[in-house]
Amino acid sequence: MAEKSILITGGAGFIGSHLVRYFVNKYPNYSIFNLDKLTYAGNLENLKDIENAPNYTFIKGDICDRDTLKKLFEKYGIDSVIHLAAETHVDRSVNDPLEFVKTNVIGTLTLLQVAKEFWQKDNYEGKLFYHVSTDEVFGSLDLDGGYFTEDCKYEPHSPYSASKASSDHFVRSFYDTYKMPIVISNCSNNYGPNQFPEKLIPLFINNIRHNRELPVYGKGENVRDWLYVEDHVSAIDLIFHKGKIGETYCIGGKNEWKNIDIIKRVISITDELLGRESGASLKLIKFVTDRPGHDLRYAIDCTKLERELGWQPSYTFDDGIRKCIEWYLNNQEWLDQVTSGDYKNYYDKMYKGR
Ligand code: NAD
Ligand code: TYD
Repeated sequence: MAEKSILITGGAGFIGSHLVRYFVNKYPNYSIFNLDKLTYAGNLENLKDIENAPNYTFIKGDICDRDTLKKLFEKYGIDSVIHLAAETHVDRSVNDPLEFVKTNVIGTLTLLQVAKEFWQKDNYEGKLFYHVSTDEVFGSLDLDGGYFTEDCKYEPHSPYSASKASSDHFVRSFYDTYKMPIVISNCSNNYGPNQFPEKLIPLFINNIRHNRELPVYGKGENVRDWLYVEDHVSAIDLIFHKGKIGETYCIGGKNEWKNIDIIKRVISITDELLGRESGASLKLIKFVTDRPGHDLRYAIDCTKLERELGWQPSYTFDDGIRKCIEWYLNNQEWLDQVTSGDYKNYYDKMYKGR
C-alpha cells in the first residue's frame, strides 16, 4: 500500500512534468497519478524517462470532467492533490478569455468539489489540496515599488491572472467554508527545459537559432523575476510536506530582469553556443506593439518561505540560463514537434504582421 496517493494535474506541461519526475524519483513509496488533458501545452515526451516507473500512472482527462475525477478518486484512493493544470499564456488569454475561465476557474472548482465529496467523510484526515498559482494575481508593481508578499491584495489585470485569482479565491473558500486542508503558492516566472515555446525564453532561443525576428513588446522595459523550474519544484515539495494548512507561500528567484536585458543575455549565450560571432543575433530584435494591459513589474519577497520552511533556490541565474539554453539547442526535435500543427497556425495568427 502506497504511503500517499497523489493526483498531480497538468503533469505533462512545463512545471508539472518536472514536478512529476521529481516526486516519482524521490518518493518511491508514493503513488503518483498524472491527470492531463494534453492540450497544445501538454506533451508526454516530457516524461518519457519515467513513463514505466512502478509508482507512476498517466491518465488523459479533463479537470472539468466530474465523472473522470470521481472515478480517479474512487479507484486510486487519492488523498492529496497538487493542482497545476491550467491555461497559462497571457497572450492567448487576451484572445480567448473563456477558455481560461473553463479550465482555470470551472476546472479548479470541479476538482475542489470532487475532493470535498471524497474527503469530507473522513473529516479530511491526512488529506491536502495544494493549489499552484502565480504572482500575476497581485497585479503590477512600479519599477521602484517594493515586492509582492503573501499579504498583498489581489489586483489581476489580464484574463489569465483574473482566472488564476478566481481559482485562488475558490480554493481559500473551501478552507473557510468546508475546512478542507489547502495550501497555495504564488510563484514568479519560471524558466528551464520543456517550456512551451510561446513563452519568452524558449521562443527567443528557438528564433535566434533559426534567425527569426525576436518580437520585444513595447520598449522591453517590463521587469520579471525569473526562477529555474527545478527550484520551483523543490519549493513545492517543501510546502507540500511542511507548509501550514490554510497558508499561502510566495516563491521567487530574487532575480529581476528588464526584458530587454534578459533578451540580450539570452542572445549572448545562444550566439556563443552556436559558434556565432558575439552579438551577431542582436539584429533580430524587433520592437513590436505592446501587449494590451502589459504588467510593468513582478517581483517576489519570499522571506516567509525561507524563514519558515528553510527554502533556498539552488541555481544561480548564470548556471540556470546556460543549462536551459543548452537544453533547447540540444533538443531541436522536441521544439519541432511542439511547434508543428495547431501551434503553427496560432503562431502565424498571433505574430504575423505584429
Ligand atoms: P503549461 O501551459 O506548460 O502546462 C499546463 C498543463 O495543463 C498542460 O500539460 C495541459 O495539457 C494541462 N491542461 C490544460 N487544461 C487542462 C484541463 N482542462 N484538464 C487537464 N489538464 C489540462 O503550464 P506551466 O507553465 O507548467 O504552469 C503550470 C501551473 O503553474 C499553472 O497553474 C500556472 O498558472 C502556474 N505557474 C506557472 C508559472 C510559469 O512561469 N510558467 C509561474 C507561476 C505559476
Ligand atoms: P511570458 O513568457 O509570456 O510570461 P508572462 O507574461 O507570464 O510574464 O512573457 C515574459 C515577458 O516577456 C513579458 O513581460 C512579456 C514579454 N514578451 C515579449 O516581449 N515578447 C514575446 O514574444 C513574449 C512571448 C513575451
